[in-house]
Amino acid sequence: MTDRDEASNKLWGGRFSEGTDSLVQRFTASVTFDQRLYRHDIMGSKAHARMLQHVGVLTEKERDAIVTGLDDILQDIEAGQFSWSVALEDVHMNIEARLTDRIGDVGKKLHTGRSRNDQVATDIRLYVRADIDQVVAGIVALQQALLDLAEREQATIMPGFTHLQTAQPVTFGHHMLAWFEMLQRDRERFVDCRKRVNHLPLGAAALAGTTFPIDREFVARELGFDGVAGNSLDAVSDRDFAIEFTAASALLMTHLSRFSEELIIWVSAQFGFIELDDRFCTGSSIMPQKKNPDVPELVRGKTGRVNGHLVALLTLMKGQPLAYNKDNQEDKEPLFDTGDTVKDCLAVFAGMVPGIKVKPAAMRAAALKGYATATDLADYLVRKGVAFRDAHEVVGKSVAFAIAAGKDLAELSLENLRQFSAHIDQDVFAVLTLEGSVQARNHFGGTAPAQVKAAIARARASLS
Ligand code: ARG
Repeated sequence: MTDRDEASNKLWGGRFSEGTDSLVQRFTASVTFDQRLYRHDIMGSKAHARMLQHVGVLTEKERDAIVTGLDDILQDIEAGQFSWSVALEDVHMNIEARLTDRIGDVGKKLHTGRSRNDQVATDIRLYVRADIDQVVAGIVALQQALLDLAEREQATIMPGFTHLQTAQPVTFGHHMLAWFEMLQRDRERFVDCRKRVNHLPLGAAALAGTTFPIDREFVARELGFDGVAGNSLDAVSDRDFAIEFTAASALLMTHLSRFSEELIIWVSAQFGFIELDDRFCTGSSIMPQKKNPDVPELVRGKTGRVNGHLVALLTLMKGQPLAYNKDNQEDKEPLFDTGDTVKDCLAVFAGMVPGIKVKPAAMRAAALKGYATATDLADYLVRKGVAFRDAHEVVGKSVAFAIAAGKDLAELSLENLRQFSAHIDQDVFAVLTLEGSVQARNHFGGTAPAQVKAAIARARASLS
């Protein structure tokens, strides 16, 4: 980072008679964090230059000098040979100033018919679009890992919970598919958000448009935008798309956080339902026996920062009059961090899920402990002609009896059970088993292994 602090070096120096206060310079500069937009900034500038030539504002020679100069700058930046200047405030002015240093006065023509306001709006749309594509790929990779695990354990029985109390038996495959469904909606949200991101603001100039005969459709085609923003004031000031991306990210993180919470509970000695690969756990510096689920804990923790970014962006926008305000410079750090965090969390999860080792015996033992087939007994009585509410009462009494006897429902004798209802016969024991319970829930969306298998096939088809 160099300091060129003479006023004459500023691209807007003409109006000013003294240089910027050094504190204000540092305070207003964004180059320390917006330099990561360089690729998108150069992409946008090249498209703008090509358009200016196309409509006759630049000659072919001028366009070629600008495009080549921008390509050279791109190479310098990627080779780590570009020194960013705080005095030049942001990524846009750094690159433009360097262009003129490199190719001479023709570089000064690049900003014709354009403002940093429509430039930055274009850059961050290109940036968010690329982030969305990476996030979507990351979601798909995790979904694939979940399907493989669900397939491996499609018939493995575990207790399903409500209120974190044993409720009814479910299959582990079914449980994994619940996470698949959440991620499917997350993916749809990002894909949908991309449609609104993919509109071109460039051409709005500072706020009112430009006097040059620009061809915005040309620029949109060059940059792969699906459409052109319809109102110049809105184009430079809208940050809905950034909020939408962050909102979709906050929901995705919330899902990963809930998933994390389950993994953390399941690896505990008290549950012991699964093990995670050593590669994804860490130890304690004092307690030699510890194997901690740091990865899911951190994902759960990082959810807080993404939720925070969403609130930051909403708050950033709520008081802004039209059109562009410098407030908007504050959109970048939350936005960049959101994408970074989400991409990282998806990647660690996609790496961790294939190594989840299921412990069926522990899950079965837990399912047997909590009277998980009580509803099955009630449903059995209904099939014998008892009204559900009466059946509920009968089973409640049977469970109380079983608790007092220290037994599971399936361990009670037929005589024990028949004291609560004469409708109970020998065939009751088939419905009281865990296998009988899950197999009986054999309808679309249910937990029966046959349904899980079909759901996996549907899920795989939705990814291809
Ligand atoms: N660095 C600014 C931002 O991120 C670029 C736009 C500046 N425009 C302006 N009129 N000062 O928002």
